Amino acid sequence: MGKVIGKIFIFLLATVFVFMWVGYAVTKMTGGEKKAAGAVEITPEGGETIFWGKGRCFTCHSMGENGSAVRCPNLGVWGDKFPLPIGKRAESRAKERQAQTGLPYTATDYLTECLATPGAYIVEGYKNEMAVVYAPPISLSLHEIKAVILYLQSQGGEVDVNAVNNPSEIAKKLHDKISAAGAAGGGDPGHGEEVFKGSCVNCHMLKGEGGKIGPDLSNAGNKPLKFLSESILRPVDAITPGYETWVVETKDNTKAIGIKTKDDAQGVEILKATGDIVTVARADIKELTQDKTKSLMPEDMIEGLTVKDFQDVLAFMMMQKEKK
Ligand code: HEC
Ligand code: HEC
Repeated sequence: MGKVIGKIFIFLLATVFVFMWVGYAVTKMTGGEKKAAGAVEITPEGGETIFWGKGRCFTCHSMGENGSAVRCPNLGVWGDKFPLPIGKRAESRAKERQAQTGLPYTATDYLTECLATPGAYIVEGYKNEMAVVYAPPISLSLHEIKAVILYLQSQGGEVDVNAVNNPSEIAKKLHDKISAAGAAGGGDPGHGEEVFKGSCVNCHMLKGEGGKIGPDLSNAGNKPLKFLSESILRPVDAITPGYETWVVETKDNTKAIGIKTKDDAQGVEILKATGDIVTVARADIKELTQDKTKSLMPEDMIEGLTVKDFQDVLAFMMMQKEKK
């Protein structure tokens, strides 16, 4: 009896040990939780590994004599065309941006903008062809982009860790844009805007342009990502107050379905999904009911979008913040 218990005990001990070992080996393989994020340090050296690696900057840019890419601006000193390395060059570019926008651009702001909104300033003689480096397939995080900025600064400019970690108002907005794209699963907001223009703008207003059937989305970015995602996946689950679906039947048996934009002594006004407005006089109404099972936003919206379209349009939504 004692022997059997002893054997069971040894067996259990061995099992526990094996489990512990497997757990340890897996943690080691994946580099532990902290390292699993693949985090580089926010230093010029960290940025250098991104520039010549994951960031794929080297596929388009050379750095002076280093690298073999010639299609895009050289970021080091290169002939008459680029007499200053990018760290120093950023200072004069910042002055140009300041003159163009009237905003107090610093060299750090310029470099942040190069990465967050490459189309904002196009280097003369080149096209708006820089990759969106925080979107797939490159998908740099804000953390990695900060490191890259320090590396660019280290090329003849002032390495300003403080400006990178405590962004100015200009840079803060650009950081938010990068984080928002990351939070939305790394979507590409630039392409998301195209999706929006193709599938959503007929019903939704954005900064004064678009349809009035659904709510204005100019501040959609202040809502949680989950809410935005659900609103597209299952619109009926969270109908925005004031946008409920109503059905009005008239005495001569016509029916109109839409949002009730007016309801007074004279009658009701229904805004249909097509944008048409139907007015029915009070005396002609047979029945007026709310249909809680339907949203005027199409239930099958998602079927017309690829997974990428969906992520990209979410990233674009997350960026819409007119006011806090
Ligand atoms: C697909 C090619 C491509 C990739 C990848 C790319 N860029 Fe660019 N980049 C360009 C082009 C083209 C321009 C010039 C047009 C413009 O100004 O937007 C440019 C402009 C720039 C500028 C402005 C240069 C100046 O003279 O002011 C900087 C800085 C820059 N890129 C940094 C980077 C970094 C850092 C990466 C990697 C994280 C990167 N780029 C990845 C194509 C690319
Ligand atoms: C036929 C018109 C129509 C189209 C097309 C449409 N929507 Fe909507 N949307 C609505 C209506 C109506 C509501 C309000 C009712 C509801 O919440 O379901 C709404 C609600 C929303 C909301 C919730 C807003 C809030 O503040 O509560 C979001 C987000 C949204 N739509 C995003 C989109 C996106 C993104 C697309 C394109 C992929 C799109 N919609 C296409 C009509 C439309």
